[in-house]
Amino acid sequence: MITRRQALHLIGTGLAGLPLIGRSQNDGSDLNPLKIPPLYSGEPDSEARRFSLNLESAETEFLPGQLTATYGINGSYLGPTLRFSRYERVAFAVTNSLQEETSLHWHGFHLPPTEDGGPHQPIASGETWNPGFEVIQYGGTYWYHSHVMHKSGEQVYKGLAGMIIVDDEEHPADLPGEYGVDDIPLILQDRRFGRDGQFQYLNRYEDIVMGQMGDTILVNGSWRPQFRPSTRLVRFRLLNAANARTFRVALSDRRQFEMIAGDGGLLESPVPMTELSLAPAERAEIIVRFSPGESVNLLSLGREVQPVSFPGAMPRMLNELNSEAFNLLALHCESSLEDRAPLPGSLTEIYRLPESAASNTRSFRLNMGNGMRSGADRGPGDGPRNGTGGGAGGGNYAINGRVMDMNYINERVPLNTTEIWEVSNNSPMMHPFHIHNGQFQILDRGGNPPPAHEMGWKDTVQVKPGELLRLIMRFTDYTDENNPYMYHCHILEHEDRGMMGQFVLV
Ligand code: C2O
Ligand code: CU
Ligand code: CU
Repeated sequence: MITRRQALHLIGTGLAGLPLIGRSQNDGSDLNPLKIPPLYSGEPDSEARRFSLNLESAETEFLPGQLTATYGINGSYLGPTLRFSRYERVAFAVTNSLQEETSLHWHGFHLPPTEDGGPHQPIASGETWNPGFEVIQYGGTYWYHSHVMHKSGEQVYKGLAGMIIVDDEEHPADLPGEYGVDDIPLILQDRRFGRDGQFQYLNRYEDIVMGQMGDTILVNGSWRPQFRPSTRLVRFRLLNAANARTFRVALSDRRQFEMIAGDGGLLESPVPMTELSLAPAERAEIIVRFSPGESVNLLSLGREVQPVSFPGAMPRMLNELNSEAFNLLALHCESSLEDRAPLPGSLTEIYRLPESAASNTRSFRLNMGNGMRSGADRGPGDGPRNGTGGGAGGGNYAINGRVMDMNYINERVPLNTTEIWEVSNNSPMMHPFHIHNGQFQILDRGGNPPPAHEMGWKDTVQVKPGELLRLIMRFTDYTDENNPYMYHCHILEHEDRGMMGQFVLV
């Protein structure tokens, strides 16, 4: 008999036509309907669209007959999909009914730093936090999640995350847009369950070094989900809400799909693809075409293993990193499918920030401090440091050699300027680099312009080992000497252990 792990390895090595996970996944017998998070559009009054969010601890049945201790927002696991309109004001009452401190961050939004929900806006147990902001973002797919200092990883893992959809009147009207029908949120996460049915968190050395991974996929909190398309074109809003895993999304028959939007809204035109790499916190909207009655699976392909060898435990971990393949979602089409408008050839126009507009360039070196570090990694300024050269880095994660310190402002950015940020990675694994307070554009990686699907607005970008990535960002609207924004690796265990820094707009 073939074990599940062996089966996963087979798909990873290209035998993708074979049935997944032992027996056929396609007979539908042991699948569960995909849960669709409830849509929550708030209660608008004359000032703002108002949302009440309650962060609570609960139990959730993911695996049949087993209850798992979880956190949820207005529910037992994850939160509702919040729906905003561009240019309106939104306001929240976020109540912390947990037994511990938390926070709630609006990922991808341009807003005052006091409303951001990062480590400087903790919500004590029993308290309510009342932030609000103007939705300036382009229409698209965003999200919200816990961002409390040192515990984002654990709290997001337990369930403190949800999707945000921003509607934009300037978007083409004929894109699939009926939530839950032909516009489907897919919150992708991997979890590891113990024999007792509980989530296991950071109980292996690998989890701490590479970030928390799991061997069980949940999509919108559903285990072994299936969805039944009823239209020929379906828009899937993919959100990688995993702590550390990068998904390589594809259809099991390798059919082409079209990516129409990235982190910060629409691309200029649909980009045909057969697979898409999505790192933690990245989003993509894709359009998949279906024929009546057919069945196909949405997968995450295993990464091809590129053997690395050097002394220590790291090579084995690196070889295993993201090497497993998974079934994400079984798709079984209805026997007749509704026709909708064809996909428009052009979606929007994106103004490319010219390099010449930048008045300053900053460098950010992403370090994993598990070994020796040269003095060059120390970075400028005073403050706590690790790995000051010639010694073990002490298992810390740092940017420019500096571990995140709430009381240390790493960068001061002048208001109304455009800057180039050069992000380099001298560690052996990829880090998804995220900047708060809005969206940037990728200029190049190692001098090469980004591929078409990364030509839109981004807030999180993959920086591979040895790579130098240059991005360009405009800093506007909200000066605040005292309240910083964050930038960090979105592998949450790296963020929690110090691969994060702070900037103020002045
Ligand atoms: Cu998704 Cu600093 O956040
Ligand atoms: Cu963010
Ligand atoms: Cu990282």
